[in-house]
Amino acid sequence: MGKSCVLFLAICLASLLAASADWNILNQKTKSGLKISLKNYCESWRMNVELNNIREFSVVPSECTSYIGKYMVGTQFQSDTEATIDECTLYLNTHCDLKKDGKDAWIFDIDDTLLSTMPYYKKHGYGGEKLNVTDLEAWMAQGKATAIDYTLKFFNDVKRRGMQIILISSRKEYLRDATIDNLVNVGFYGWKSLYLRGVEDECKKVEEFKASVRTELVNNGYRIWGILGDQWSSIKGAATGRRPFKLPNSLYFVA
Ligand SMILES: *[C@@H]1O[C@H](CO)[C@@H](O)[C@H](O)[C@H]1NC(C)=O
Repeated sequence: MGKSCVLFLAICLASLLAASADWNILNQKTKSGLKISLKNYCESWRMNVELNNIREFSVVPSECTSYIGKYMVGTQFQSDTEATIDECTLYLNTHCDLKKDGKDAWIFDIDDTLLSTMPYYKKHGYGGEKLNVTDLEAWMAQGKATAIDYTLKFFNDVKRRGMQIILISSRKEYLRDATIDNLVNVGFYGWKSLYLRGVEDECKKVEEFKASVRTELVNNGYRIWGILGDQWSSIKGAATGRRPFKLPNSLYFVA
């Protein structure tokens, strides 16, 4: 074996070990010694992201991008999403005595709640690549995000019930036209207001921005019956309404 070849293998092995601080291909065990598979390891990672225990990750761990990719495009993600929405519907049917005075409100996120960014993340390693905001926003500006069909059904259900639909998104204000076009083209219309982040909001954390919008809504007399979002930053903080619901999202974290 040539010298350069040995060096190459050594670099590969070193980077593999560096990338997988917790998961070790030579020693498939947890810290306590429990023997687990890579699938176990990645499912625990995914579950703890959803539980809001793992926070502020900038990329999906490289050893799990394949697992997360399969989850996101497969039946399980769709089933998990539908289960969330079914709970929203059950809640509306059984726990919401709407006043029908124009102040009953439901709040939605946009990305990965109404519109799917999967077409983008599919091309960027299922969250395994560090996010390039310029590139993601250029993709958003094309308005080619697809609808999440099951949320569209729920969106229309909320509308039929006569509630006010409020959209609060961390997208920037300059993407307003593209966002509206995209939403309408895939079937979302009839919302009451659409809040995006203005330049003055960009220095705030997303959680703070969304909470301040909700506080303003409550001060204007709205009853927030529920929020549907895919990030904890959409459903935490002030004025979270009567019941927040979280959709699964293992691809990225927005603080
Ligand atoms: C981010 O994306 C933009 C637009 O696609 C590209 O020009 C730029 O080089 C990228 N930056 C990095 C650090 O990859």
